[in-house]
Amino acid sequence: MPKNNCLITGGLGFIGSTLAKQLIKFKDISNCVLVDNFSGYINPLRRSFFDFRQERFNSFSKIKNNKLIIKKCKFERANCADFKSIYNIIEKYKPKYIFHTAAVPVARVQNPNISEFREGSIDTTINLLDCIDLLQKKNKFKLERFLYFSSSMIYGDFKKKKVSEKDETNPKDIYGTMKLAGEIIVKGLSKCNSIPYTIIRPSAVYGPTDMNERVTQYLIMRAIQGEKLVVHGKNEKLDFTFIEDLASGCIKAARSPKGKNETFNITFGKARKILDFAKIISKNFPKSKLEVVERDNTRPKRGTLSTTKARKLLGFKPKIKLEQGTQQYINFYKKFLKNN
Ligand SMILES: NC(=O)c1ccc[n+]([C@@H]2O[C@H](COP(=O)([O-])OP(=O)(O)OC[C@H]3O[C@@H](n4cnc5c(N)ncnc54)[C@H](O)[C@@H]3O)[C@@H](O)[C@H]2O)c1
Repeated sequence: MPKNNCLITGGLGFIGSTLAKQLIKFKDISNCVLVDNFSGYINPLRRSFFDFRQERFNSFSKIKNNKLIIKKCKFERANCADFKSIYNIIEKYKPKYIFHTAAVPVARVQNPNISEFREGSIDTTINLLDCIDLLQKKNKFKLERFLYFSSSMIYGDFKKKKVSEKDETNPKDIYGTMKLAGEIIVKGLSKCNSIPYTIIRPSAVYGPTDMNERVTQYLIMRAIQGEKLVVHGKNEKLDFTFIEDLASGCIKAARSPKGKNETFNITFGKARKILDFAKIISKNFPKSKLEVVERDNTRPKRGTLSTTKARKLLGFKPKIKLEQGTQQYINFYKKFLKNN
């Protein structure tokens, strides 16, 4: 069996580390190279509550118990926007697949810093594609697939009950704008330089090890602290996607010839109310009260993403319902708090 390396940018992140845990189980994958600059977005006010980055790193460094991780995971600390580091890492490992997840992953940052978003979605993407092109032209390696992690925020307000990959993209915020710009860069540069790519559009990914203060973690954290669960908009919906489902869909997209040069919504495929999510949490924390306030109109109106294309071309079948996934996420938190 041929042995192949894969490289994951943002490999210590929520999605990157879960991809790694799934990828190392494949017999034809010899090494999973995790490239990360340890910058993971942290709200400084919460820094003392959890040390987010350390926890992520810890979840990987329990290597004593995991022979596959010792054998197959390599760590490289580097900024993906830095040409020399990335060129050297790609030349060293010659990956067959590159999963580009490194970025500031949160749309709601209190004082949006455009350059930080630009670095994650644009500078790192151009740099990676540039290094791949130069190394391919020198016949140093041949890439099978470059996966770019975009977002459902590129659609802006959803105009239909279900948005498909063919629908209009009209981002409403800096994050979505930068993610869409990254998609255009991937398509254009890949076409010029014969780099096979796949674009992934996830939505509201949640589950164990997510600590980026998106709505799911925010509500669980409020419940743990005995605070009110404040939901903006009683009918506000999101296509909540459990992390393991997302990771398996992305791996299918990378490994299938039908995923080549395509864009996929990889989500659960059925939006649920944020209020439903809050109700599931409050069952576990009966003391926490629910409060519904006005929707935040600066946020796009979202809902279901159609997964028909991923189901038909890739055989993608998400399995974990919101009730099950939320329970796993809450259990992770309870265990984490007990041990820290
Ligand atoms: N989690 C979601 O709900 C969601 C939804 C849609 C899209 N996405 C996209 O998926 C990707 C991964 O998201 P996540 O939730 O795993 O985020 P995350 O913050 O958990 O992981 C990102 C990782 O990238 C690293 N990183 C950031 N900039 C870097 C750089 N310049 N060089 C090297 N490493 C860098 C960080 O240290 C972090 O470990 C992001 O591109 C995000 O925009 C996530």
